[in-house]
Amino acid sequence: MSSSAMRYSPAAERNRGPIGEALLGLLPAHGHALEIASGSGQHAAWFGALLPGWHWQPTDADDGNFASVRHWCAAQPNVAPPFELDLLALPADLAEVPVAPDSQALVFCANMLHISPWPTCDALMRLAATVLQPEGQLIVYGPFIIEGEPLAPSNAAFDEDLRQRDPAWGLRRLAAVQQTAAKHGLLLAERRAMPANNQLLVWRRA
Ligand SMILES: C[S@@+](CC[C@H](N)C(=O)[O-])C[C@H]1O[C@@H](n2cnc3c(N)ncnc32)[C@H](O)[C@@H]1O
Repeated sequence: MSSSAMRYSPAAERNRGPIGEALLGLLPAHGHALEIASGSGQHAAWFGALLPGWHWQPTDADDGNFASVRHWCAAQPNVAPPFELDLLALPADLAEVPVAPDSQALVFCANMLHISPWPTCDALMRLAATVLQPEGQLIVYGPFIIEGEPLAPSNAAFDEDLRQRDPAWGLRRLAAVQQTAAKHGLLLAERRAMPANNQLLVWRRA
């Protein structure tokens, strides 16, 4: 594979350490993880190495990322080859998705909700509520607008920039995400403030 296939996200490089620390504290020693919106594959590679008892499944809507995911994860035997999973194209019957119901201990999704149309939130919650084991966790990472808390100037500028790039994008309100999750029987169990005004949200089945 040519090295030009390898994509690099400086943000993923910065946040993989703090997210990894949080995962180590939240997760059991073994399990199956479904990653939504894997992007470059840097997270899959890092978390696969950090969690050797886990089977990590990267996915993305954009198969143009897959060569990069494979490249980053080449040395990780517990990271599976990526497959295409577009949240906006989920089948009406989730049995058609190649992930069995009640099979995953973790669904992980970083930095996607603000950089995709709002209906990805409903789709993410619907999918997670179906594929998570009863005691499984959906962990979502990224910047959010938190009711009653001031929006950091850097996040306000980021939101403005996203909306200019695509009016369907933008930082999501945590309350709206919670409402959507509740529709699918997922409750916010924990919220951790992370570096650079990001949040780590932990959802569990009610
Ligand atoms: C900013 S990148 C984040 C990548 C990676 N999770 C990270 O944190 O470095 C956003 C990712 O969301 C993916 N994405 C956008 N719309 C999506 C959808 N409808 N379903 C699944 N993934 C989607 C993009 O292809 C892209 O890889």
